Formats: sequence, structure tokens, C-alpha cells
Amino acid sequence: MDTGKYFRQVNLPEQKQYDDGVIFPVVLSPNTNFDCNFTAEAKESDFKEAIKAEKQWIESLVDKYGVILFRGFPVKSASDFNDVVEAFGFPEIEYVGGRAPRTKVVGRVYTANESPPENRVPFHHEMSYVPDAPSKLFFFCEQEPGKGGQTPLVLSHIIYDKMKEKYPEFIAEVEEHGVKNVVVMGDEDDSSNVGGRGWKSAYMTNDKKVAEERAAKQGAKLEWMHGNAVKVTTGPLPAFRFDKKSQHKTWFNNIAYTKPVPLNGINVDDHDTYIELGNGGLVSDQAQKECSKIMEEECVVVPWKNGDVMLVNNLIVLHARQPLLKPPRRVLASLCK
Ligand code: FE2
Repeated sequence: MDTGKYFRQVNLPEQKQYDDGVIFPVVLSPNTNFDCNFTAEAKESDFKEAIKAEKQWIESLVDKYGVILFRGFPVKSASDFNDVVEAFGFPEIEYVGGRAPRTKVVGRVYTANESPPENRVPFHHEMSYVPDAPSKLFFFCEQEPGKGGQTPLVLSHIIYDKMKEKYPEFIAEVEEHGVKNVVVMGDEDDSSNVGGRGWKSAYMTNDKKVAEERAAKQGAKLEWMHGNAVKVTTGPLPAFRFDKKSQHKTWFNNIAYTKPVPLNGINVDDHDTYIELGNGGLVSDQAQKECSKIMEEECVVVPWKNGDVMLVNNLIVLHARQPLLKPPRRVLASLCK
């Protein structure tokens, strides 16, 4: 693999290498062979310049390989991270309709998920339940975990391919009808829940009518419940998407971790995420379990190091969060169109 002028490729024991030549994830560190002052002790501004100079090349890597981990660069604070994200120049996406409770740190940098760090976040494509999901995500490790708290990664087409092989009929059914997601949102954020964002912050308004309009733009329907809660139904949306750049079909859905819509409907206190097929059909319980199993088998788990910046192609990679076993941990995120 070409390594660009300012970067060198680093190998980690956790990486996977596939038959088609894909290395997952790609890890880039400062190149010490060049006399451009770009060393491990380099200033953060040098990193920004390197990004700008090599942006096209970096983008081609993330299109092909799915994830780039930048390790060993002088990124120390949330504001440094914001500068790095800005240097890439990808347009920012507003987190409208998003479900994770998050708070803004600086610029376009947010906490990744405010829910208790000892809880696991299952594998997902960011915002797979809206038509225009972010295409790229950045993560930054401001404080590496004491133990646990990794961000596992898996190439989405592997899940699709393996599931299609094992459950061709179920996949054909899902392909035909798409999926609907249902979630109950309170009016305020509930950071005890992985998906506990309230509708006021999700739709960035206190006005129910405005929230309805913003939801409608994403193909979501809001039904008001007592106590200012709301039932949000999105879709049907395609559960699998075709990524033109990699020419792969991806597992772009929440099937692995959502519950079937209860037969007697959803209550105001049902704070889980529910799923059904676009025609109201049930998601196969067996397929759901198998899908989680394949994700665990196929994923890569690289422990975070202070200063790591990760660029994830959200169109072809699923990510998760391992439970934090020993604090501290602070991982920040930024989402791009
Ligand atoms: Fe996420």
C-alpha cells in the first residue's frame, strides 16, 4: 500500500488482512523518514497541513479500506481534534433524529455517547434509521480507557454476505420489504439509556409541529403519547444498501439488537428500540441471534491509545462500544455528511 508523503503504515496484531488485499483497519503514523519536520514530536499544525496535502489519498484509503486509525500524532485536546476534523473539510451533518444522548464539547466535536460507560453499545451504522446517514465519522481518544471501552469495528458487507448464505429466504424478505424502526422518546435526554435522547434535542426544537416537520423530512412519523413522550416510527427503509465505491452490499440496519414490536403495541415506558419488516412482518429471532454472533466473530478490536484519531467510513463499517471495565475513558466524536 502506498503510504503518502507524511505517513507510514503501521501494523498491529489486532488487524485483519483479507484475501482481496483489504487491511482492516489501516493504521497510519507520522513518517519519520522525511526531512519535513514531521516527526512524532511534530506540532499539531503539521498534522493539519499533512491532512490537507494528502486529503485525496486519505479519502481513497477510507473508501477502500473502511477505517483509518491515526496513531502517534500530536492531538491532545478536544479543540485539537476539532482542528483535525476541520482540516479534512468534510461537511458537518446535524444530528437531527439521532438517538444517542450526546453533548457538544467544542466546534463540531461531541461526546460519543453519554450513556453509562459500563453498558455495551451494540454494532451499528451511525443513524442507519434515517435515509441520509453520515458517510464519515471521526472518533478521538482524549483519555484512553483503564480497561475495556474499546470501539470494535466490522466490515458490513461480510455480515450481509454471511447472513445471505445462511438465511437466503429471510434476507430476500427483508430485501423486499425493508424495515421499520420504532422508538419511544421522552421530551428530555435520558443519559442512563444508550438510545435515550429526548425528542427536543433529537429534533432541535421545543415545538411539536416543528419536530413533526423535521421528522417527516427523514421519513419518520411522530405519534404523541402522554407525558410529552413521542413514538417515532421510521421507514420502511432499505435494510441493505449498495456502496458504489466498494461495490459491496452492506448490512445497514438495526436487526442485530432490536426487539420485535410487541403485539399489544408500544407503551410510553418502553424505552427500547423495536423493529419490524416494512409489511409488518416479524424479524426472525434466529437470524437476529446469528447476526450478532457473526459480528462478534468478524470484528476487530484495537485498544484505544491517548491521541488516537479514527476515521470511519460509516457506509461500509459497523462500530460498537465495549463495556468500560476500569475508568477513566473519554472518546469524542464528530459526524460528517
Ligand atoms: Fe455510534
